[in-house]
Amino acid sequence: MADQDKFKKVVAHAKEYGYVFQSSEIYDGLSAVYDYGQNGVELKKNIREFWWQAMVQMNNNIVGLDAAILMHPTTWKASGHVDAFNDPLIDNKDSKKRYRADVLIEDYVAKIEAKIEKEINKAAKRFGDAFDKAEFLATNERVVQYKEKGDAILKRMGQSLEKEDLADVKALIEELEIACPLTGSRNWTEVKQFNLMFGTKLGASAENAMDLYLRPETAQGIFVNFLNVQKSGRMKIPFGIAQTGKAFRNEIVARQFIFRMREFEQMEMQFFVRPGEELKWYESWKEKRLKWHLALGLGADNYRFHDHDKLAHYANAAADIEFKFPFGFKELEGIHSRTDFDLSSHQEFSGKKLQYFDPELGENYVPYVVETSIGLDRMFLAVFSNSLQDEILEDGSTRTVLKLPAVLAPVKAAILPLVKKDGLPEVAKQIMADLKFDFTLTYDEKDAIGRRYRRQDANGTPFCITVDHDTLKDNTVTIRYRDSMKQDRVNIADLKDIISKEVSPKYWLEKC
Ligand code: GAP
Repeated sequence: MADQDKFKKVVAHAKEYGYVFQSSEIYDGLSAVYDYGQNGVELKKNIREFWWQAMVQMNNNIVGLDAAILMHPTTWKASGHVDAFNDPLIDNKDSKKRYRADVLIEDYVAKIEAKIEKEINKAAKRFGDAFDKAEFLATNERVVQYKEKGDAILKRMGQSLEKEDLADVKALIEELEIACPLTGSRNWTEVKQFNLMFGTKLGASAENAMDLYLRPETAQGIFVNFLNVQKSGRMKIPFGIAQTGKAFRNEIVARQFIFRMREFEQMEMQFFVRPGEELKWYESWKEKRLKWHLALGLGADNYRFHDHDKLAHYANAAADIEFKFPFGFKELEGIHSRTDFDLSSHQEFSGKKLQYFDPELGENYVPYVVETSIGLDRMFLAVFSNSLQDEILEDGSTRTVLKLPAVLAPVKAAILPLVKKDGLPEVAKQIMADLKFDFTLTYDEKDAIGRRYRRQDANGTPFCITVDHDTLKDNTVTIRYRDSMKQDRVNIADLKDIISKEVSPKYWLEKC
């Protein structure tokens, strides 16, 4: 399936099966804002829990926090967001469409990367088993040229943005002859900076109202609570504070479904370390976070690191874990070595000391911070799009199956009486009543059993349990596995153990 078609299918499937809806759809929607339906909310909750377990439950030096979305406005002055949380935007004078200048350039480079991918596929077909991808990438003249061109463009863009040389960003767009994707026009305005924070007001009367921002990242709630948590939890460095919650950004280019939203959720962890040790911890967290992703089995080839040339105002090292979405490799998670920038800055703006007394060194210092930051919605899209597959079966028919990792699946098992009579629904409902303390379940007695299996496949349910006439005689049921479609006859009494084995977080966390 072409990538564009696959992406359309992902969006349509998410709606049809109650995962993701356009926000305020009956009013024609609100751009880049989405609602999660009955299955989406479960998948999202399970991803959040899997992250929380891996970060907080599995590490006794990491604790949680739930800071408010609204924060004192000076927070955002201290963090640098008021002055520097900008995106470079450019307007097309003919189409009147607004774009992110860096995204236009990145899309141009993505097309070069697509050409490399095409060459790889062609060569892989030509050479068969003898194909050595690494050697091909290093030696094929055309591919090397493409790669050098892409790297040079990204490097120049990174340097120009770093120096705030917006005229050069526009020059680059013109040199590459990048056109408005909608109309083909190359009639561009200058590149300007645009602050991404949403403003709001606190207070009853217009005169006394205080200007606030909706937080653009959850991290600052952790920084301002650093001493509260350290002191009340008697935490010793190195230690971490983890938080999940909503963040808001007035994105200029809001597209690609839930990849780039104006209201989204982050899962962030700030790890406080001794000054000078931050790069060691940065490497360690890069490795740990990749392992977390790989544990879910979405395919090692679908991940890569992208080390930043252009560093944010607070970082001395930064990398993205990129994932192969249906529209190409894009950032899924960021790992940033944020130095002591945030704590020092809050110390300066608040006039309150944010220091730690290190009993081993016998001295006070402002800790350095390594952050891991992942978008929950982006992770949802990674899991969902990767899991959605059309399979051709042995008999030539196709089935649509959502092969979600079982630990994340919204519904763990469907209980299906073979027919709606002869006492089978009663037995099925009793099985449900017993298992519902342990798992999220669904019950379905409508349509032929084959159609019901397909419905559960498309819904991502890992197990179907069918109650038939033999069940009445020997207390056994058929358990059908979503991915292999294999069917086993098992005792009702064994169901809990069989399902638990595959859906239990332990099974998955042990791989992290
Ligand atoms: N505290 C650091 C921070 O916020 P970021 O790279 O701006 O860093 C971290 O964001 C993660 O949040 C990204 O890797 C991405 O997964 C997610 N994210 C950022 N902007 C987003 C948006 N508009 N929509 C959905 N997810 C977003």
